[in-house]
Amino acid sequence: MTELRHITSINDLTNHEIETTFSLADKYLSELGDIRPTGRTRKKRSLTTHRIGRSGHAGAGSILASLFYEPSTRTRLSFESAMLRLGGGTITSSDPATSSAAKGESLADTVRVVSSYADAIVIRHPRDGAAKLAAQYASIPVINAGDGGHEHPTQTLCDLFTLYRREKQRLKNLNNLNVVISGDLRGSRTVHSFVYALARFKARIQFVPGAAGMGLPPHVEWRLRNEFHCLPEDRKAGEDDVDLFYVTADQSHQLSLITPEIGIKMAKAKKAIDVIYVTRFQKERWKDQVQSYMKVDSAFLKDNKYKRTSVLHPLPRVGELDIALDRNPRAAYFQQASFGVPVRMALIAALLDFEGQHSLEKFASGFRPDSHVLYEQPHGIVCANPNCIVHDPLEGLYAANKHYIVDWLKPRLRCFYCENDIENFYVGHKKTRHYGLAGEAGKHMRDVILFADRAAAEAAGYKPRKSLSGAAKA
Ligand code: NCD
Repeated sequence: MTELRHITSINDLTNHEIETTFSLADKYLSELGDIRPTGRTRKKRSLTTHRIGRSGHAGAGSILASLFYEPSTRTRLSFESAMLRLGGGTITSSDPATSSAAKGESLADTVRVVSSYADAIVIRHPRDGAAKLAAQYASIPVINAGDGGHEHPTQTLCDLFTLYRREKQRLKNLNNLNVVISGDLRGSRTVHSFVYALARFKARIQFVPGAAGMGLPPHVEWRLRNEFHCLPEDRKAGEDDVDLFYVTADQSHQLSLITPEIGIKMAKAKKAIDVIYVTRFQKERWKDQVQSYMKVDSAFLKDNKYKRTSVLHPLPRVGELDIALDRNPRAAYFQQASFGVPVRMALIAALLDFEGQHSLEKFASGFRPDSHVLYEQPHGIVCANPNCIVHDPLEGLYAANKHYIVDWLKPRLRCFYCENDIENFYVGHKKTRHYGLAGEAGKHMRDVILFADRAAAEAAGYKPRKSLSGAAKA
């Protein structure tokens, strides 16, 4: 067995590990696949779905536990099908009303118990950061199948694998894709995992929010710019449907986009869109029900730049993707859903070391090992995201009040669980009982307490440092 790895974010996997997972998924498709184009799709290979039709033995004797606290069709069933196709078994708790959750059992206790019954846990939960909490208490690998509005890393694996399979002939690799992402960018956890992966594969990403206020969450945008080295690109004439462009900085040709003249030339050259990723309005994550929401249909896709575009959607769709597109060769969403089984077979096998050379590298922290200092304090500043698991009256009792200190000089904290950021916190020194801006306090973390604002510091009996200038006042 490999060392204990959890997949709570797409960033828990390196690019190499993602590619390793894809070659294993390819292997399962060629060894166990059963391609049966049906009905009208018979002649359109681009519309063919991929069914794993036989079972192997690699996972014989192993058990996958699915703990689903939120509705699911594709994710849970494809995970369970995947484990069964590997020759393993599954146990399921998919209705919180009929599990001990209904009696008030915490997630932490549940995963501790389930760790004795299975070899891996797949979890879906309405709270952001729930998978990370589960991983803290489980003694077997935890895979995040969607935690609130935070992330959905295995959906991203299915999304990328679909592109890898469809674009294999045309493009050498997954790098440099030209991608449009539309819909509820704020509430869609699938989008958050997808954009991190795209940035890592050097994509050019254009965002088209489905309605006002549905842009990327500020902390995700901040990470794209500051940790994934994406640069905003100027809006080009004729592309006014687009909210923002990002390009990754380490592509030499993209640096030329800074010069308007070359930028326009590049915009023309890169005009063809490889992928449009459509998402539904995540009504369960919003207080207000939105009146109007964008729709992607043949009229939307009539522009020449969409001529060869693969249309992806994590599904379910609820009106934002016209069903008339289903027979269009650009429609890739049912194929994408069908890849859920081989991709999840590959991930489970790699995680549980069923296939020797394909096992995930023993690299504990994934793509970008967290180099940030982790700061834990029982009181003081708490995560600003109201949907974070730390704010759940029951589960929060099991969560520590932990943050990564992302930046001292331009103060920024990141919640250990949900990865939302807090900007501009204050630092109180327990000995002097004075507080100041984090940047002024130096990097000495001993005997300090962090506060969200000045009022909180003063309510705790701390006095402002002399250096706390008028400009810094909250
Ligand atoms: C997604 C999810 O649960 O976030 N569904 C899925 O897993 N395929 C997308 C959605 O619900 O909109």
